[in-house]
Amino acid sequence: METAIKVSGLAKEYKTYSREESFRASIRSLFKRDFKIKHALKGIDFEIKTGEVIGLIGPNGAGKSTAIKVLCGVLYPTSGEVKSLGYVPWKQRQEYAYNFGVVFGQKSQLAWDIPPNDTYHLLKVLYDIPEETFKRRLAHMVKLLSLEDIYKRPTRGLSLGERMKCEVVAALLHKPKLVLLDEPTIGMDVVAKKQLHNFIKQINKDYNTTFIITTHDMQDIEKLCKRVIIINTGDIVYDGPLADLCKKYVTNKLIEVRFEEKTHVSLPKRCTLIDKTPYTIKFEVPLKNNKLDPFVAKLVGEYPVADITISDPDIEEIIRDIYQHGTR
Ligand SMILES: Nc1ncnc2c1ncn2[C@@H]1O[C@H](COP(=O)(O)OP(=O)(O)OP(=O)(O)O)[C@@H](O)[C@H]1O
Ligand SMILES: [Mg+2]
Repeated sequence: METAIKVSGLAKEYKTYSREESFRASIRSLFKRDFKIKHALKGIDFEIKTGEVIGLIGPNGAGKSTAIKVLCGVLYPTSGEVKSLGYVPWKQRQEYAYNFGVVFGQKSQLAWDIPPNDTYHLLKVLYDIPEETFKRRLAHMVKLLSLEDIYKRPTRGLSLGERMKCEVVAALLHKPKLVLLDEPTIGMDVVAKKQLHNFIKQINKDYNTTFIITTHDMQDIEKLCKRVIIINTGDIVYDGPLADLCKKYVTNKLIEVRFEEKTHVSLPKRCTLIDKTPYTIKFEVPLKNNKLDPFVAKLVGEYPVADITISDPDIEEIIRDIYQHGTR
């Protein structure tokens, strides 16, 4: 597989000046200003192959948006190297711009007072897209995202979710090889989210487009990304398959039991009770060497069990644990 992006030793520091309160201090600050350095990225390395859909996740302030901004060339790094689609983003911005698309969920790229459709026509001229190609692509995306009744209304009157879908279309009109999505599902309801998931999958399948998605929504990750990169306080703490993440860090199993009759179970100390009714019990057992605790077998053998399900704690819990305690 071809390499789409190679990042080595990427570091970004922000310099922030502190504002002094007093008059004297502000006069002094004309001559000598106090500043603080924020190490937003601390020398990260990763490589992404063409056609991958990568989830870039991490807690607030981890450095995700900073990484996306460096990748699209609007920020230059303090040190390190980036090659994206053969370009150095902040050095070859113009040529590079024809090849990637970006959406910042927190910031609109559509003109506020005109319909998205008008912005699309501007983009057509900007990217020099032939009329027929433009029409075909737009119709295809409008259909996939159910935007028929939306994209000709002024942007300012659209709901957040409607607008986000229109933003995604704007970012993809020129058929970029790489798409960077920074919190694309923010403000979307479940239906819209599902449409966007399907849309991304379809585009990825049809054109082998590479996607990098930052999100706080684990559904996005589970639905879209085989591989995740977890970043925390400017460092990569995990880079690998989502499935391995679950395997490696699942330390508990969730057991849910329904009994045929009213039953009282006394749990061993190592189990954690989650919920209990006269006919059901829900608890977690720790895994030991990846083996299920013998108590579960005992439970099935000795109690009137009508039904039992054994599952992993949800991905959200695993991720939260990594954010808080790192990858032990
Ligand atoms: N322009 C800036 N000037 C100073 N500090 C900044 C600037 N932009 C970001 N930072 C700081 O750098 C760190 C990383 O910010 P970044 O926006 O990349 O985080 P993030 O992972 O996208 O977080 P979130 O999930 O909240 O969007 C944060 O501590 C942030 O306060
Ligand atoms: Mg961010």
